[in-house]
Amino acid sequence: MLPNVLQPGATDHIPVLADEVRQLLAVQPGETVVDATFGAGGHARLLAQDLRGQGRLIAIDRDPGARDYFEAVRRQTGVQGRFLRGDFAVVLEQLAENGVRAEAILFDLGVSSMQIDRPERGFSYAADAPLDMRMDPSDDYSARELVNEASERELTRIFRQYGEERYAKQIARAIVRRRREEPFERTGELVDTIKAAMPAPARFGDGHPAKRVFQALRIAVNDELTALEDALPAAVDLLHPGGRIAVISFHSLEDRIVKRFLREQEQGCTCPPDFPVCTCGREPVLRATPRRAIRARAAETAANPRAASARLRAAVKV
Ligand SMILES: C[S@@+](CC[C@H](N)C(=O)[O-])C[C@H]1O[C@@H](n2cnc3c(N)ncnc32)[C@H](O)[C@@H]1O
Repeated sequence: MLPNVLQPGATDHIPVLADEVRQLLAVQPGETVVDATFGAGGHARLLAQDLRGQGRLIAIDRDPGARDYFEAVRRQTGVQGRFLRGDFAVVLEQLAENGVRAEAILFDLGVSSMQIDRPERGFSYAADAPLDMRMDPSDDYSARELVNEASERELTRIFRQYGEERYAKQIARAIVRRRREEPFERTGELVDTIKAAMPAPARFGDGHPAKRVFQALRIAVNDELTALEDALPAAVDLLHPGGRIAVISFHSLEDRIVKRFLREQEQGCTCPPDFPVCTCGREPVLRATPRRAIRARAAETAANPRAASARLRAAVKV
């Protein structure tokens, strides 16, 4: 499993699997498109072009910084639409409750370059900055609180579960020992503590020694997996019959949630096989298209290393 990492300056705003997303969402003029993870608008700009001046784009992001990118996309493409700031799980539900329906919905999960490339946001282990990692800077809970307040056991769980960090226990123990003397304030202090807690050979192994812990903290701080679990059913409610949904995930935990959800939604009758007639009345809601996850081609991965860990799954509402 590769983490969702953008090295500073490496791949600014290159939308991942863009051709494939465009093909699967097959946006037509006059449709309503929802980009639930607008970011810097890389995918949305292409989807807006496919609308050819007819239809609308609803852009969602919990990061207020995405609004400026939305305005830029609106200016450049002339697309109609609006930007809604908030957690996609909440916003999608509100849209559905208000009778909005869409023909295409995209999720491109994780952090964007606009977040990683700004050291002051504290997402990157590559620059010393305040320990933050909130996608929505108005949230109460940042990585600083998590690192200074969570128990050793909880930190171990987070590093193991969300980062698949082999030295989760050793790192959690080192953090708890270090914060007894002085609380963590900066990413650099955390990176130093992580490095010191690892055996020397592991520090030179698979990429930067802090990348898995940083990924794990980011997922925990932003409660990313719960948001995804809540958002997928809301997105399906929002879709018209025949509407398309596409989800790009960057690590196996996210992909597992998406895969399981699509399988459940594809399932029809669940009555025992010896029932003479169906009593459950369950009908398939989605049809996965294609059934397997799509991975980036070698040429894309060579040009954009972030694409290496991307998995795209898509489905049509039946
Ligand atoms: C990988 S980026 C999207 C990049 C975008 N597709 C592009 O081409 O520029 C993911 C974006 O989703 C946002 N995001 C992540 N989780 C979110 C959530 N639960 N609700 C709303 N936005 C979220 C992040 O703030 C980030 O801007």
